[in-house]
Amino acid sequence: MKKQILYSATKPTGNLTLGNYLGAIKNWLSLQNEYNCYFCIANLHSHTIELSADFVKTKTLEQLAMFLACGLDPKKSIIYVQSMVPEHAELTWMLNCTTMMGEANRMTQYKDKVAKGITSVSTALFTYPVLMAADILLYNTNIVPVGEDQVQHVELCRDIATRFNHRFGPTFVIPKAVVPTVGARIKGLLDPTSKMGKSDDDPNNIIFLHNTNEEITKKIKRAVTDSLNNIAFDEQNQPGVSNLLTIISACEGVPIENVVAELTGKGYGALKQRATQSVINTIAPIREKYNYYMSHQDELIKIATDGARKAQKVAHETLLRAKQNMGLL
Ligand code: TYM
Repeated sequence: MKKQILYSATKPTGNLTLGNYLGAIKNWLSLQNEYNCYFCIANLHSHTIELSADFVKTKTLEQLAMFLACGLDPKKSIIYVQSMVPEHAELTWMLNCTTMMGEANRMTQYKDKVAKGITSVSTALFTYPVLMAADILLYNTNIVPVGEDQVQHVELCRDIATRFNHRFGPTFVIPKAVVPTVGARIKGLLDPTSKMGKSDDDPNNIIFLHNTNEEITKKIKRAVTDSLNNIAFDEQNQPGVSNLLTIISACEGVPIENVVAELTGKGYGALKQRATQSVINTIAPIREKYNYYMSHQDELIKIATDGARKAQKVAHETLLRAKQNMGLL
């Protein structure tokens, strides 16, 4: 039977975090054998906010090195950089024609900025979910494994594709989002009520995949808990404790209830020690491989070039079909 198609991506606007790993990348690894996979460094998405060219270039290569260090395998999957496949930008324009203003208005990143009264946002920030739809649709994708914050965008992609197919005839496969049961929304260490995001101003709120064991230990030691001194999974009343429990559970692949049972009656010191060990065991081997790839950048460029060539073959066919169906010569 023909394998189904899996597509996912990260945007190089900062360093990859434990949230990116547990919410997305870890899930990708286990699916590499079951699906035909595409993993993309979505660098066209980076300039939706103001970043320098040098910064984006550096983060693109670093994320590629981190993909490989995490265990994504170019022999099994197509791993590539978005800007090396120009079809993404062309399809985006075409999909803009079947996206409604109201839909784009409802996407949280833009809506949040407007709600905060920030007016100096680029039109790209408004339309970037359409670029994300083009990313997914170019490859006839069946599933899109993402963290919770991206589900809204995959839903929009489905709506755009369905409308396009209805208006211009069958063109796109309708994809669906898949989120992990644990780890779909890892929270910040200092602010466990909001997502651990790679562009956060305070690095102590985030565990980065390249952090040293000492840095990880220090950050978890400082993590916010509460004054209840009770180890329980209760996201409403004990968000800090629940976040640490989630991190242990997602790192080790054991149910949260087992971690709670094991730590019941122990203090927050024991919880933090356990979380630290769990994160170090997860990250240390990744960091070592990352350092290898960062000192072999010629290998990175070769992998990106091969990946782009394979990706473009499929992307080009889909783009031609869409153009033909739209009556574009
Ligand atoms: P990005 O780069 O913000 O995040 C990459 C992936 O990591 C997940 N993630 C998290 N999961 C759990 N807890 C967290 N704290 C956390 N932070 C991030 C995200 O949900 C995502 O799966 N627009 C996308 C990139 C993109 C894309 C695509 C994704 C571009 N084109 C096509 C899928 C398909 C983004 O900004 O992800």
